Amino acid sequence: MPNVNDDIEANPIFTRPGEATSYPANRIPQNESLPSTAYQVVHDQSMLDGNARLNLATFVGTWMDDEATKLYVEAADKNMVDKDEYPATAAVETTCVKMVAAMWNAKDPDNTIGTSTIGSSEAAMLGGLAMKRKWSNARKAAGKSTEKPNLVLSSAVQVCWEKFCNYFEVEARFVPISLEHKVLDGYELEKYVDENTIGVVCIMGVTYTGMYEPVKEVSAKLDQIQKDTGLDIPIHVDGASGGFIAPFCQPDLEWDFRVDRVVSINTSGHKYGLVYPGLGWVVWRDKEACPDDLIFYVSYLGGSEATLALNFSRPGSQVLLQYYLFLRLGYEGYTRVQSNSRSVAMYLAEEIGKMEPFELWNDGSDIPVFAWYLKDSASKNWSLYDLADRLRLKGWLIPAYPMPDDLADLTVQRIVVRNGLSHDLATKLLGDIKDDVAFLQKLDGPMPRDAATTHQFAH
Ligand SMILES: Cc1ncc(COP(=O)(O)O)c(C=O)c1O
Repeated sequence: MPNVNDDIEANPIFTRPGEATSYPANRIPQNESLPSTAYQVVHDQSMLDGNARLNLATFVGTWMDDEATKLYVEAADKNMVDKDEYPATAAVETTCVKMVAAMWNAKDPDNTIGTSTIGSSEAAMLGGLAMKRKWSNARKAAGKSTEKPNLVLSSAVQVCWEKFCNYFEVEARFVPISLEHKVLDGYELEKYVDENTIGVVCIMGVTYTGMYEPVKEVSAKLDQIQKDTGLDIPIHVDGASGGFIAPFCQPDLEWDFRVDRVVSINTSGHKYGLVYPGLGWVVWRDKEACPDDLIFYVSYLGGSEATLALNFSRPGSQVLLQYYLFLRLGYEGYTRVQSNSRSVAMYLAEEIGKMEPFELWNDGSDIPVFAWYLKDSASKNWSLYDLADRLRLKGWLIPAYPMPDDLADLTVQRIVVRNGLSHDLATKLLGDIKDDVAFLQKLDGPMPRDAATTHQFAH
């Protein structure tokens, strides 16, 4: 018998030490392992995750083509912050910022300022910080207090905005959504803003439901408020998802730098920008919109490069992947991919809307995301959490969750359609939903309720 403690490559893989015995929990093991053993253990543990392609909860990219994967591996060792050492990657980042600025109809894309980030959360925080600094600089210049900044936003904002307000000590003034005002649309905005308002956030693609907030209408309301009160309040657009959908699917919709009040926009390269996780973008309408005192200058090719970020090190590969996709797809390709996702979303929404117990919240025609809820008349024997659990048994990850505070009694279920959910796969999903709904409708008593069937989905 060979000694299993000898690290002999020929040991049958699942009988080697490490595979045959378990590693210590929560402690770094004392001894080395063969790379293939350690690989196999990590690989096998991650098999217990859900299937990323069937994860219809996430907005974040789960598929890229082979050339992108090749580039990803080639560039995995590049740190985005090493601009002096990787000037070509730094130049690609600058090019991408201008491309994104042009995509969002900046008047002079070459005179904009922006940066890649680790995601929309960092990008949104930079946008928020710039508005706060602009406001406080103006207040200081006028000899006024800068003690109590506030930000006005929908109660359905993504958690990154709550973090921004908490971390950077800004009062969050939430405008509640309701069945009459499903998004922040300017209704009663005058009650929320005052001289301490650093800005209003409009969301292009609300996380809970996928709906667009009407930026132009909100801006018109702020014009009226300015006329009445003299307050000149800027808008930051959180285009985490919509920033890469609207330019292709609704090019005539004015929500971006065509609206004068929009000073900055963030998006996630890793959502509908179609890159793997780890990339966001923020762009200001022009250099004046971003206060100079937030910018750090680093040495770059003997010159000086402006940087603006919360993180220091982060992957450079994602930026190269974004550039690859801009070249690979162009406007035509992006339009084709996004329109296809939108048409799959609208198809699914229509079919789900026809099912007896359901009422649609929206139809997937803004970003390819939609949500539905149970009609009042639906059976009380089951909930959308039960449907989510049954779909999970088949591999589909489709979360149910309560709406934000003022509508918290309403539970919705949401599907995010991304590149990779084909019409064919969507048809299979519909079949599974129909089967599970039929099963639940036949129940002659309530499903048992415990914490597991009412778990919270975190946005
Ligand atoms: C509207 C909105 N803003 C911000 C974010 C945060 O984005 P990220 O995950 O890229 O940090 C999300 C994520 O879903 C979002 O939907």
